[in-house]
Amino acid sequence: MSENPSRRLPELKPVERRTFLRYSLIGATSAGLAGFGASVLGFLWPNLSGGFGADITLPVSAAELAATIREERAPFAFPAGRMYIVTWDPNTPGAEEQYGEDHPVTADGVGLMALFQKCVHLGCRVPWCQSSQWFECPCHGSKYNKWGEWMGGPAPRGLDRFPSRIGDDGNLIVSTGTVLTGPARTERVLQQEPEGPACVDL
Ligand code: FES
Repeated sequence: MSENPSRRLPELKPVERRTFLRYSLIGATSAGLAGFGASVLGFLWPNLSGGFGADITLPVSAAELAATIREERAPFAFPAGRMYIVTWDPNTPGAEEQYGEDHPVTADGVGLMALFQKCVHLGCRVPWCQSSQWFECPCHGSKYNKWGEWMGGPAPRGLDRFPSRIGDDGNLIVSTGTVLTGPARTERVLQQEPEGPACVDL
């Protein structure tokens, strides 16, 4: 269940940035093999500036990250940092007040937010469900919307998250040494119904 940020697969050739993003996003779409694939790809990137617990600079510009997440309709899974990057809309009523302080907005007006991948119930890694567009925990059925807000199940709140900022080079920097407690069940800002069949039916 836990990842080891120091793992490397030296015999594999570097992948292009865009390819890396696409493979990581595809890898986030199901709980099993795809999740494993995303994990392996995450370990391949050679320029991770800090391990989990430190500031991590993502290897892609915030603008490209936001565009790819929207295009793929899936979060960017970054297992080495134990996180998913999701987009959020600062124009949604209440969003700026809830998330604006700790989660940046790109020059194009797209919010980015780093969610801790660990379920706040008992700690399972929560996979992304592409069909429902929710995060769905296979352990006891907790569900979270695409901003990581609680939607159902035994989890006591929404997913925890990390503060982030956009660096001078335009890349997203995530402070994984600081865990922000997820929003309370009643603090849901995004009104998002499931957009298709669930991946977990518990
Ligand atoms: S660990 Fe996720 S629902 Fe229990």
